[in-house]
Amino acid sequence: MTTDRPSYDDPETYARLAGFGGDWRDTWWNSDYLDLLGQRLDLGRRARLLDVGCGAGHWGRAVAGRMSADATLTGIDREPAFFDAAQESAKAAKLTANYLEADAGRLPFEDASFDVVTCQTVLIHVPDAQAVVTEMLRVTKPDGVVLLAEPDNLVMATSFMGTSVPLKATERASLLKLQLLCHEGKRALGEGDGDVGARLPALLRKGSALAIQAFASDKCAWAQPPYDDHAQAVDIKTQLDFARMDQWMPTGPREDTRRHYLAGGGTDAEFDPCWAVVLRWLRTFEQQVSAGTFHCSRPTCMVLACGQPGSGA
Ligand SMILES: C[S@@+](CC[C@H](N)C(=O)[O-])C[C@H]1O[C@@H](n2cnc3c(N)ncnc32)[C@H](O)[C@@H]1O
Repeated sequence: MTTDRPSYDDPETYARLAGFGGDWRDTWWNSDYLDLLGQRLDLGRRARLLDVGCGAGHWGRAVAGRMSADATLTGIDREPAFFDAAQESAKAAKLTANYLEADAGRLPFEDASFDVVTCQTVLIHVPDAQAVVTEMLRVTKPDGVVLLAEPDNLVMATSFMGTSVPLKATERASLLKLQLLCHEGKRALGEGDGDVGARLPALLRKGSALAIQAFASDKCAWAQPPYDDHAQAVDIKTQLDFARMDQWMPTGPREDTRRHYLAGGGTDAEFDPCWAVVLRWLRTFEQQVSAGTFHCSRPTCMVLACGQPGSGA
């Protein structure tokens, strides 16, 4: 089947492709690293949090858990279908949370409303990341902080090339080309920028932010049989779910990948052999997991950048 629309237009499909079920997204971070981040940003004395593009609420909960005991969490998303799951998990975590439907580019809040304004894996999906960051700075109090957590998916894609799944140099080159053209195409179609992690400090600076800092997550998604550590078990299960859906984590399912590849200047004739490499990787991965021979050590490539609103915000 071919389509001109993203398969993730439907919220149920989106939730599956984004891995919203369960705690996979919580395994992206080392808890003690988030504690350190909390110290660096003085989160313990901050109370009002806004999570932009909150989805099922994983990132907002992680940040809120490092804030003051009376912290309140507001999450906004353009898709309200995720709010029930977000609310349920916030309640289980004993957090005071409120989820609202809104657009990240037009936040329905007064200037200087929040102590902490954050987002995770949202700027990679919006057509104008600068507009969102500028809006995030607007609703942050003068002594508050904007915290952006976004991947560099070009780096993430290369981390899939160094696992126990054997790849020839020509196959790696095909996967890299697939990634580069998909990023180009995604940008051209106004569906986001997979490399945005590399530009976060520049986005803050252009939004007139002050005291800008950038960090990288220290999380490594490593796997080694028998995958009995909790984070490994969750990651392996999620990657198997993605493989069963024929989803290549760095670019998505076939039709979205193909659409982005063509918009990035590729041709159908070039796409098919690249996708054949993806399918071979996925099938080999499944076989290796069931044989207990799959292993990897894959940095998660999340960039964190923070800043305070400046006079121009
Ligand atoms: C990949 S998910 C990330 C969810 C959550 N931040 C997390 O890390 O678990 C991206 C989320 O951003 C939302 N989103 C994308 N564009 C948006 C926009 N313009 N305004 C509000 N939400 C948006 C999507 O609906 C989706 O829930």
